Amino acid sequence: MFETLKKATLDKIFVLMAEYANDPRDGKIDLGVGVYKDPKGVTPVMSSVKKAEQRILDSAKTKTYKGVVGNKEFSAAIVDLALGGVVENKRIRCVNGAGGTGALSILMNVLGRARPKGRIFISDPSWPNHWPMAELAGLTPVYYPYFDHAKRLVDFDKMMGTLNTLTSDDIVLLHGCCHNPTGASLTNAQWDEVVESLKRTGAFPLVDLAYLGFGDGLEADAYGVRKVVSSVPESMVAFSASKNFGLYRERAGVAIAIARDSDSADVVSSQMQNVIRATISQTPDHGAEIVRVILEDKELRAEWEAELTEMRERMKRLRVKLADAIRQRSNSKDFDFIAEHTGMFSLLGLPEDVVTKLKLDDAIYMINDSRINVAGIPEDRIGELADKMLAAIR
Ligand code: LMR
Repeated sequence: MFETLKKATLDKIFVLMAEYANDPRDGKIDLGVGVYKDPKGVTPVMSSVKKAEQRILDSAKTKTYKGVVGNKEFSAAIVDLALGGVVENKRIRCVNGAGGTGALSILMNVLGRARPKGRIFISDPSWPNHWPMAELAGLTPVYYPYFDHAKRLVDFDKMMGTLNTLTSDDIVLLHGCCHNPTGASLTNAQWDEVVESLKRTGAFPLVDLAYLGFGDGLEADAYGVRKVVSSVPESMVAFSASKNFGLYRERAGVAIAIARDSDSADVVSSQMQNVIRATISQTPDHGAEIVRVILEDKELRAEWEAELTEMRERMKRLRVKLADAIRQRSNSKDFDFIAEHTGMFSLLGLPEDVVTKLKLDDAIYMINDSRINVAGIPEDRIGELADKMLAAIR
């Protein structure tokens, strides 16, 4: 049986994570996988999460099945948080997903049924998992231009040049905020233009919302997704609670479909449930329940928002400090973009041999396309990091 199989390519992010874990060198620096790190370099369990978990532990009476759609109250709280009431509830249907990836997978599989082999336009570059997920769902991934590698900004004219040619058979995958891997995100005015294009072409938007609250705040980061879902008749959103609730391994996410009307929404819901039942039958509930408890409780919610703000502010501070340190040492503004990007990542634009050299010689780990996770920057060693980066480039 297995002799017919070829070795599959493993995702570079998790390959690097394992390499980092196996590196015995002291002082190694992890700018790889996108997980938040506190000043001690630890990915903490948030205090609001711990409290919610304690409440769940104290009050849980059963672990019986919830049903295929999962934790409905969790979904409702996320729809409220992410979409802010801009669409009538009767047009919205949700199922839980096993993390944001699980949510995306459900949505892509439903889209694969709606448009077998249909084109799904993915930003170039994008999160490396988007492409294989689309293929697995029976869609045909295609890139749309996104990033100006020289300026490290969104190449908006080129992006629109492609989006404007799409048809109502096409799907476009948009990063809701905090673009991964580039860190270059759309402005509100650019979102407005994207939405005008979607209205004109009829292309179907699928929004990946994995970093809500990591850019400029919960409300500010929701501008794009709200604009999209409130402007077009049909859309989908994959929400992840992995980063903003620090729930990575718990796999909490929501797949949201917005349809033309309630009847059509029921059809999409049945498809989403069919995909879940045929793959994992039920989604994990622990993370979903934690988020529900937090969002439904005024005090816990305020505590979570404060923790999220602290994480966001810390990442912004680290961006500014690294950009400053490089500018002072190099007398150039070449890396100022680090301070201007948003969210967890920046694509530095270093050649792959420089990235490899930093890993082998200095134990500084970043993804081979030179994406860094800014939360991994050690605040007390920023000068050293800047020195090593500049030395490797020279
Ligand atoms: C990342 O981009 O590093 C994270 O989203 C982790 C992942 O699943 O790839």
